[in-house]
Amino acid sequence: MSTDVFVHPSANVSPHASIGNGSKVWINVQIRENAIIGEGCIISKDVYIDHAVKIGHRCKIQNSVSVYNGVEIGDDVFVGPNVSFTNDKVPRAFNADWSITPTYISEGASIGANATIVCGITIGEYAMVAAGSVVTKDVEPYTLVMGNPARAVAKIDRAGNRVTGED
Ligand SMILES: CC(C)(COP(=O)(O)OP(=O)(O)OC[C@H]1O[C@@H](n2cnc3c(N)ncnc32)[C@H](O)[C@@H]1OP(=O)(O)O)[C@@H](O)C(=O)NCCC(=O)NCCS
Repeated sequence: MSTDVFVHPSANVSPHASIGNGSKVWINVQIRENAIIGEGCIISKDVYIDHAVKIGHRCKIQNSVSVYNGVEIGDDVFVGPNVSFTNDKVPRAFNADWSITPTYISEGASIGANATIVCGITIGEYAMVAAGSVVTKDVEPYTLVMGNPARAVAKIDRAGNRVTGED
């Protein structure tokens, strides 16, 4: 691990995880083996990063998010508090023969608080997911989606401002 990484004493970070320069890991975070976290990230209170998860540079992962194996996050991604990622499309407690369905969150995207991301999709560059949405399909780049199931409602710019409505 780089020497200028801040890890709160209550965090549990595998010695086999990699965390880039300038990243901060806060209270009660768990980071599993072979996870790779880029530079300048903020991993907030109670976050769980599963084994072999890749997170890019300058990401903010807010309180209580679990990033499961199969989820990959690009650079400059914002993940709001209590966002739920998934990695098993058809979960059964008794099925030992399950497989991981991958999900990709592209550079610059933001996911609002408490959104649910059903696995197997890509959220495009600089897209925005409204708070509380349930995202079941790919999200185009520079697009705002909201609702359950999430629908595209506008094109947005890099800063997140609406450029056009889609109604
Ligand atoms: C998606 C978002 C960016 C939209 O902001 P906006 O463009 O200013 O939208 P407005 O507040 O003008 O609302 C426009 C319409 O969308 C609806 N809307 C706004 N946010 C919504 C949401 N999260 N889910 C469903 N509908 C939503 C509004 O009710 C309104 O509906 P109406 O036209 O029928 O009245 C914002 O509401 C949001 O969810 N931001 C994420 C906040 C967050 O989670 N931050 C995390 C860190 S704390």
